[in-house]
Amino acid sequence: MLKAPRGTSDTLPPDTSKWAYIEGVMRQVSRRFNFEEIRTPTFEHLELFARTVGETTDIVEKEMYSFKDKTGRDLALRPEGTAPVARAFLEHGMASGPLPRKFFYMGPMFRYEKPQAGRYREHRQFGVEILGSASPYSDVEVIVLAMELAAELGLTGTTLHLNSIGCPSCRSGYKAKLIEYLRPKTDLLCEDCKSRLERNPLRVLDCKQEGCRSAIVGAPSMLDHLCPDCKAHWDQMTRILASQGISFEVDSALVRGLDYYTRTVFELKWPPLGAQNTLVGGGRYDGLIAELGGPPIPGVGFGMGIERMLLATDKGSKPIQAETAIDVFVIGLGTDQTVGEKAFGLVRDLRRAGLCCEFDPLQRSMKAQMRQADRMNAKFAAILGDDEVARGVVTIRSMSEGWQKSVDESSVVNVLREEVTGCGK
Ligand code: HAM
Repeated sequence: MLKAPRGTSDTLPPDTSKWAYIEGVMRQVSRRFNFEEIRTPTFEHLELFARTVGETTDIVEKEMYSFKDKTGRDLALRPEGTAPVARAFLEHGMASGPLPRKFFYMGPMFRYEKPQAGRYREHRQFGVEILGSASPYSDVEVIVLAMELAAELGLTGTTLHLNSIGCPSCRSGYKAKLIEYLRPKTDLLCEDCKSRLERNPLRVLDCKQEGCRSAIVGAPSMLDHLCPDCKAHWDQMTRILASQGISFEVDSALVRGLDYYTRTVFELKWPPLGAQNTLVGGGRYDGLIAELGGPPIPGVGFGMGIERMLLATDKGSKPIQAETAIDVFVIGLGTDQTVGEKAFGLVRDLRRAGLCCEFDPLQRSMKAQMRQADRMNAKFAAILGDDEVARGVVTIRSMSEGWQKSVDESSVVNVLREEVTGCGK
């Protein structure tokens, strides 16, 4: 039998209702922060990611789902959302419009990674980007948004990790110092880090291999090598965070696996998740728009893994409840077909009135339908039989309390609506 490709998964009910809930909260919180939704294609020219995420990064070097289309164009399924948003921003002339612009997006990303809990070849991200603000208030605004989202979804105990990786000018001096420090320790480094030491030494700081981790102990810190402007940005940002009572850990080994970052990089982690515990990764990318041929417009944003958020909330103290209960199960059973038709009309009226309503198209026995109503956690059953139709009434039954009563057919929709509201709908 055919199965879904490795690293992908189907989302089935009732989990789909949890997804809908999370996505709904993401939309609401984005609206409150006045971010507008942007949607970009799921595939782009491969060059977009090579130029921005970086040729020597794992994402571009090893993980991209790249392919040639029928006319030989080099394309790639998007591994991330920032470069596509920057491309769309430029392509549609937004660089010359009012700034800053604030976008959010949700959708699938593709990376050929080794699948494990919390790491997939297709994952979904919620992301935000602010384009056109170099202010540290914007760094803090996106950090606050990420934290409020986590809190709104019932997650407590997230930790904020923060670093600055400077700008190209201060970073080049730092890189030279780092290479100088690591060169005598080359033997300790993994093969990947050996080969990228000269090209991209910051990646060594981020490597999870034991040898590399021991090699970086005591390595110089970027924070001690920031130029005056980058230092001022860092000082202001950390001061704003402190003024808002937001605690953070400074992590000088936090460099992130994408080349476009400048200055601020941050991650929001939830430690109980284990190995893949980074819920949110983000930072500033002041050179990205210019790299794509646009004016020097700064940017800052983050991406949040939606699968990881769901894993975390499931494990946390307030798991999201799947929404499966229905309001009314309508049972129409009579000797004449008109009873079924009347019942079907009642289902339509109840649905129009905003109630979640179900019926049995197979018209099984009364006992079977009552069992079905129970299984669906119906709050009420509405029963129409020969007798009810003759009397112009509908019998309604509270499934939780067991009482039942006859209600005139002209008022049954209103009565049920009131009863359902009374049940805490
Ligand atoms: P990223 O750190 O590569 O950043 O991904 C962001 C988040 O997506 C991660 O923190 C994680 O929660 C989730 N994620 C990444 N890869 C996987 C995977 N294979 N399986 C499951 N979840 C995953 C970016 O993509 C940047 N574009 C974020 C950004 C936006 N920076 C600035 N603006």
